[in-house]
Amino acid sequence: MGTLIGRDFIETRDFSVAEIDELLAAATELKADFHSGKATLRLPNQTIFLIFFDKSTRTRNAFEAGITQLGGHAHFLEPASLQISHGETARDTGIILGQMGHGIAIRHDLIPGMGNSYMRQVAEHSPVPVINMQCDIDHPTQTLADIMTIREHFGQNVRGKKIAVTWGFAPSYAKPLSVPQGLISLMPRMGLDVVLAHPPGYDLMPDVVAQAKESAKEAGVKFEVTDSMDAAFEGADIVYPKSWGVCDLMTKKCDAADQKEIDAIEKECLAMNAKHKDWICDARRMKLAAKDAVYMHCLPADRGCEVTDEVIDGPQSIVFQEAENRLHTAKAIMASMMRERPF
Ligand code: CP
Repeated sequence: MGTLIGRDFIETRDFSVAEIDELLAAATELKADFHSGKATLRLPNQTIFLIFFDKSTRTRNAFEAGITQLGGHAHFLEPASLQISHGETARDTGIILGQMGHGIAIRHDLIPGMGNSYMRQVAEHSPVPVINMQCDIDHPTQTLADIMTIREHFGQNVRGKKIAVTWGFAPSYAKPLSVPQGLISLMPRMGLDVVLAHPPGYDLMPDVVAQAKESAKEAGVKFEVTDSMDAAFEGADIVYPKSWGVCDLMTKKCDAADQKEIDAIEKECLAMNAKHKDWICDARRMKLAAKDAVYMHCLPADRGCEVTDEVIDGPQSIVFQEAENRLHTAKAIMASMMRERPF
């Protein structure tokens, strides 16, 4: 332990498999301590700044509760109430918050091309670790909890297990691409075979898919892409169907002149989604998967659209275990990286 102190946590691909294993071991230990009531005051009096450009239930509360349980404190910050909304730069924000605390965590996920680059700029200038709470490219604190949950269920050695990462219909909003992208990036490196399924037009970022293919090749596992949800489910050990928006349309939000234009793009994304209402995880599709397959979702799920209540509340669903593991992995990341000020 201790090799990660001072590092930023922006994408899982920035970390070796051995380092990911180190984080997972820390999360497992922290989970056992949490359940046995043992105090884990590893970051006494430390402060983490949480900047949310988007809404959150799990991530915000995993980090807020997590830092409290580690003996520190979080500041919940929204750009609308910060000088960020008056144009203060990522560089200045990184320098200033970094001088006042021990870690900075950022969620900036809705516009392709923006979030990852913003947090990497903050990290370049911050003297303390920067943690990605979801960007346009990756959601690494989610996928760390996902692999922890998969190992808890199937055992430490998951080589040869197949995960189906598939699109699902959602009418609520154009969801970021970062969860499926994070999954296809990390899971091959952890030894899982991956099949990615989506309707035509819902391609993930080409660089991310190319890297995932390369990682699968290096790890000696399978990586396939299909436009059939049924084909993806065939024989899968883990099914992870969730919605995401059309990348090209979402990118247009970057250049939108005003809120009216952003709203029009969002409407167009939802109209596209509505053409694929049959992309739902239901009992019929679960029967296509392996007999002991599990259903996962980062949540929130659009019930009745991405998934039926029967599946998400059924015996194959491990979504609440998965959600709880957000707490333990968030604590592992903070405890491993923030333990000392580097100056
Ligand atoms: N899965 C996830 O990131 O949930 P929140 O959006 O509620 O943080």
